[in-house]
Amino acid sequence: MDGAFGCGPEGLTLGGRAVAAEAAVHGTPLYLYDTAEVRRRARLLKQALAATGLEHRVHFAMKSNRFGPVLDALRAERDVGIDACSPREVALALRHGFAPAEISVTASMLADRDLDAFAAARVHLNLDSRSALRRWAARVPRGTPVGLRVDPGVAVGYGDDPRVAYGRSKFGLLPETVEQVAAEAQALGLVVDTLHVHGGWGLPASALPAMQRTFAMLAALAERLPPVETLNVGGGLGARRRASDEPLGLPAWSDALRTAFGRWGGRIACEPGTLLVDWAGVLLVQVNTVENKDGVTWLGVDAGHNVNVYAAHYGIPVEIVHVARPLAAADTICSVAGNINESNDVFARGIALPRVAEGDLLAFLPAGAYGSSMSSDHCLRGFAAEVAW
Ligand SMILES: Cc1ncc(COP(=O)(O)O)c(C=O)c1O
Repeated sequence: MDGAFGCGPEGLTLGGRAVAAEAAVHGTPLYLYDTAEVRRRARLLKQALAATGLEHRVHFAMKSNRFGPVLDALRAERDVGIDACSPREVALALRHGFAPAEISVTASMLADRDLDAFAAARVHLNLDSRSALRRWAARVPRGTPVGLRVDPGVAVGYGDDPRVAYGRSKFGLLPETVEQVAAEAQALGLVVDTLHVHGGWGLPASALPAMQRTFAMLAALAERLPPVETLNVGGGLGARRRASDEPLGLPAWSDALRTAFGRWGGRIACEPGTLLVDWAGVLLVQVNTVENKDGVTWLGVDAGHNVNVYAAHYGIPVEIVHVARPLAAADTICSVAGNINESNDVFARGIALPRVAEGDLLAFLPAGAYGSSMSSDHCLRGFAAEVAW
C-alpha cells in the first residue's frame, strides 16, 4: 500500500490509525485525511523544486481539497500558497490565513462579478482570453501584474484520456498568439509577469518528452517577454490509481524544469493538487447489499458517484480494499455499485476482493483529491463526513 496507508491488527490504517475505529465514531460514508502526510508530500515537492537551483513557489490547487484542516496544515508550512479558481475559493483561502500575495487565481470563462471579487481581494490572476484581459484591465490600477495561461499544445494525461488532457482544449492561449496578446495586455496597462501552463491531470512517466517540449516552448516565450518573472507549470503530478500506473516522478520533472528554465533563470511556480493530498486520504463506505445476479456478485455500498466522481465521471478507477482484511486473499470477483439511481453509478466491475459480507467496510483509495471537493447532493443523498488529524 502507498502513501500513509498500512495494515494493523484492526485492519487498514491511515497515518497509523485504524480507519474502522473512525467509522465507528463518525459513520459512513466518511473521508479521512492524514495532514502529516500532506505536509510530508509538500516538503518532498519543495525539495524537488530546490534541486532545480531556481527560485520557486508552490500554490496548492484548492479545487482538489478544501477541507479546513488540510488548508491549515498547508498554511502551517508557511511557504505554500493557494491556487484558487473562483471568488469563494479566494475567500476561503483568506479565511484560512493566506495573504492576498500568496493566492493566485487560474480560472477561465470569468464573469464580470468574478473579476470584481478578485479585484477587491487584490489577488494575482492567470488569464487565458483577450476578453478577460480587457475586462480585468478595466477594474485594476495600471501596472497591475497578470499571468497569461498558455495552451500546452500537447495532449497528455492519465491513460491518454481526453477528459484529463488540456492541450488544444478550452483553456489557454495558443503559443503562437502569446506575444501578440502580451503586447495587447501591455497596451491595456497590465504587466505580464507570469506565463502559465497546465499540461494535464495524472501525467504518466511517458508524458516526459511532451512536457519537455512544453517547458521549452514556455522558456522560449519567456526569453522574448522580458517582464515575465515567473513560469508557472501547473499541476498534473502524483496520480497513481492502479498498482501498474507509473506517474511522472518528481526527479524527472525537476530535471526537466532545470534543463528547460536554468538558462532563463527566473522563478518557477507550480499548482499541485493530487500530488499533495490524494494519497493522504481515504473514503470509507459500508456494504449494505451482497447480491448475485446473472453470475455477477454485486456489492452495494452507502455512497454513490455524488460522493466520489472518479469512476462515473472520468472512468478513472479507485482501488477498493476490505477494511478489516486488507491483505486477505482476494478470491471473490465482484462489482461495486453506489446508491444513486443511475446506471453509471458503478465504482468497479469484475474486481477481486476477499469475501465480503453485508455490514463490512470498504475503503476507496486514494481519495484525498477531487473526492469530497467534487461531491454533490444529487438524489438528496447528502455529503460524506470529513475528518482529519
Ligand atoms: C490550472 C490547474 N492547475 C492545477 C491543477 C491541479 O492539478 P493536479 O491535481 O493534477 O495537481 C489543475 C487541475 O485540474 C488545474 O486545472
